[in-house]
Amino acid sequence: MVLVDSVTRAGESVIARRRSVEPVVGASALPTAPAATPAERAAARSRAGTTRLAKFHVPEILFGPGSLPEAAHAAVRLGARRPLLVTDPGLCAAGWPTQLGAHLAEAGLRPTVWSGVTPNPKDHEIAAGHVAYREHGCDVIVALGGGSVIDAAKGIALLAGNGGTILDYEGVDRMALPIPPLVMVPSTSGTGADVSQFCIVTDTARNTKITILGRAMVPDVSVVDPSLLTTMPDWLNAATGLDALTHGIEAYVSRAHNPLTDHHALQAIALVGEHLVRTMDHPAEEGARTCMAQAALEAGLAFTNAILGAAHAMSHQVGGLLDLPHGVINGVLLPHVIRFNAEPDPHRFVPIAQALGLPGQIVPDSTAGAAEAAEWAAAEVRRLGDELGVPKGLGEIGVTEADVPVLSAMTLADACLSTNPREADQADIETLFRAAL
Ligand SMILES: NC(=O)c1ccc[n+]([C@@H]2O[C@H](COP(=O)([O-])OP(=O)(O)OC[C@H]3O[C@@H](n4cnc5c(N)ncnc54)[C@H](O)[C@@H]3O)[C@@H](O)[C@H]2O)c1
Ligand SMILES: [Fe+2]
Repeated sequence: MVLVDSVTRAGESVIARRRSVEPVVGASALPTAPAATPAERAAARSRAGTTRLAKFHVPEILFGPGSLPEAAHAAVRLGARRPLLVTDPGLCAAGWPTQLGAHLAEAGLRPTVWSGVTPNPKDHEIAAGHVAYREHGCDVIVALGGGSVIDAAKGIALLAGNGGTILDYEGVDRMALPIPPLVMVPSTSGTGADVSQFCIVTDTARNTKITILGRAMVPDVSVVDPSLLTTMPDWLNAATGLDALTHGIEAYVSRAHNPLTDHHALQAIALVGEHLVRTMDHPAEEGARTCMAQAALEAGLAFTNAILGAAHAMSHQVGGLLDLPHGVINGVLLPHVIRFNAEPDPHRFVPIAQALGLPGQIVPDSTAGAAEAAEWAAAEVRRLGDELGVPKGLGEIGVTEADVPVLSAMTLADACLSTNPREADQADIETLFRAAL
């Protein structure tokens, strides 16, 4: 299987060129290699002279095969009478919105289906969705789809509550007024948009993606029914699965990580390592699909609270240059970024390697052992990419040596770099891009 050959649309370039991130108080106060017990960790924090404040936001989550009808009950609980069901043509062809529409009707609601979203949702699509919301007197928004549909639904809610155009809200916490309740039903196992505080929209005038960030963007309810994943095409499954893996790894080593995000990050990494390939080989198998749905969910919980790192900062620039899926670009970049980040201090990569199945002969109880474990993790991510058909290097997908200086300069301006565990300057990023060519 050659993944990129089967791809016909732009990949996400999520969080691209964001100007600022929500601050996490005391994010740099934790030791890089956490002490063994909670008491020791508390003592370490106390020695450092700071008390870390961990913030963790999360929607209500309903999870499990067959949970789709719960979206209707959730809408009722949120006061819906006339929900707007946001979705897209691909999902309509797969039949899921028809099923959800029936559940909404059975619950006594009068839904309006609006399916005007395309991948990488556009500013004018959000405006059109808002018109539909107003014209039909809607009160709650229910989204069924991948990250594109979910972000479009968030954007429509933002306009319904605050007016103006979606581009007015680029940045952090720019919305002043409450928005209609949001019920999300994700149909891909990757983005985590159903639990995140991010909303990524294409600015069609500037031909770039903007990021809207804020607590108000965290949905009220996420209904994760893994059955929906069975109709994903293989390329989408592989790309979104690699995106979830990258979310988990970058969130775990992020400068803004905290004990609440660590757990979810490691769990996501382990689940992708164990189940992504199986979903490719056995697409109808419920167990593996359920594990990948959980992986995407937990990676989302980790990254929306801990933010990301250099792989995403670099990937966004490549995604802006080329029309390729974000998860595939991540898959190429991630092993190189792991090596770069582990070089000065490999210890935090040991739990990552263990989550991916570090073999017993590597004993990470010394710095040299930890470095060996980190190198094994980098190689394991590459091995997984090979199995999924990820290109060997960025050169294979169209990046040239001549692109490297510009891509590197733009990477430095990407907010995801600010939470990367190792400082990186222009020369470092250029070296990383060249290694990944
Ligand atoms: N808000 C966030 O936190 C966040 C995080 C990551 C990515 N994103 C955004 O998510 C978008 C990418 O989302 P995505 O990768 O989930 O894909 P997508 O929503 O763009 O969907 C891609 C295509 O797959 C089809 N599809 C989706 N699920 C399907 C299913 N179950 N069966 C059949 N077809 C299906 C859709 O119809 C669509 O044509 C990007 O715009 C990206 O910027 C947002
Ligand atoms: Fe991502």
